[in-house]
Amino acid sequence: MKRHKHQQETEAVRAGTNLDKKSGPLATPIYQTSTFEVSDSDEQVRVTNTDMYYTRYGNPTHTVVESSIAELEGTDGALLFASGMGAITTSILALVKAGDHIVAQQDIYGGVTKFLSAWLPKLGVETTFFPTNHFEECERAIRPNTKILYLESPTNPTLRLVDLHKAAAIAKKHQLITFIDSTFATPINQRPAEFGIDLVLHSGTKYFGGHSDLICGVAAGRKELIDSIRSTRTTIGGTMDPHAAWLLLRGIKTLAVRVQRQNENALRVAEYLERHEKVRRVHYPMLKSHPQKALAIEQLRGGGGVLSFEVGDTGDDARRVAEALTLFTLAPSLGGVDSLVTLPVLTSHAMISAEHRAKMGVTDQMIRLSVGIENADDLIADLDKALAKIGTTREAASVR
Ligand SMILES: Cc1ncc(COP(=O)(O)O)c(C=O)c1O
Repeated sequence: MKRHKHQQETEAVRAGTNLDKKSGPLATPIYQTSTFEVSDSDEQVRVTNTDMYYTRYGNPTHTVVESSIAELEGTDGALLFASGMGAITTSILALVKAGDHIVAQQDIYGGVTKFLSAWLPKLGVETTFFPTNHFEECERAIRPNTKILYLESPTNPTLRLVDLHKAAAIAKKHQLITFIDSTFATPINQRPAEFGIDLVLHSGTKYFGGHSDLICGVAAGRKELIDSIRSTRTTIGGTMDPHAAWLLLRGIKTLAVRVQRQNENALRVAEYLERHEKVRRVHYPMLKSHPQKALAIEQLRGGGGVLSFEVGDTGDDARRVAEALTLFTLAPSLGGVDSLVTLPVLTSHAMISAEHRAKMGVTDQMIRLSVGIENADDLIADLDKALAKIGTTREAASVR
């Protein structure tokens, strides 16, 4: 865990740049090149494996963005990838070998579940899943060959939190490397390294980019982990394109103000929904009704821009509300400045069996919102109109 020199708003804008530099462009240039020219063979040898050799190995534009993210997370280093899945799969592959074992919580991104359960076994690496936050079960699953404890917090779409202190203590006791997918929180709301988590992963496609116009992944952690993952990235090849990395840097400059606004907007929307007679349940970490509100205050600086809620008696009711919204665009993904709405059973959780979805608490009546930076009153008025399209639910009517 590295000390922070500045507050997070300052880090978002200034981190990664050389503050002593007194001339040259203010904006970081895009090194839109696949290779780098050298003057002689000695220099060729000198630049090998640096960010001025060949862009699959690294690139000066990437270096600025990577330093900026490392500073925000408070880690020794960070790496960029062509997608969030690229960051997660490359990092796992860098740190396991045939015969190793992974323990992972059940509520994680579906693509990662697929990689752990369908792809890694082909390479001789097994995974045991434990119910999220059931750490006794997690400990029982740990074997002498277990290498990684894989976590995600807050979870999608039920916004459950994982107790990071507890997870880090178990990992330390059993000498496991802890991974966390911290996409929903961003370093503005949660810095897992402060809790002793080893490797922080993000789909940078979401809040880091912030404008729903690029795909990228991030891994941040201690130097020895980052060195090993960097070398695996070079071999597997999932490096980011320099132009997309430059767009990402532009997004990061406003990360703190965007996320702070999204925290405020999402809390207002969640409180409004909770009061609405047609809404049976709202999932948002900063609501008083959230079963882990105390943990939320301990671990998070804000609840983030994503929330989910359940309406009506059938999936059709949820569909009608989602389709009636005009300021929330019907699309998967999250974290951008534009508000989005999606039905998890049709998008992020469509590949999961209905039985498993029920165990995860993902219902047909669930709607997930990614709240953007628009005016909260406008967003609430839009939800009010959409909710008028359905009748009062039987359950809600009986409890009010
Ligand atoms: C929590 C989480 N992790 C990882 C990913 C994968 O990221 P990407 O789509 O950038 O590969 C996603 C994508 O939706 C996600 O929501």
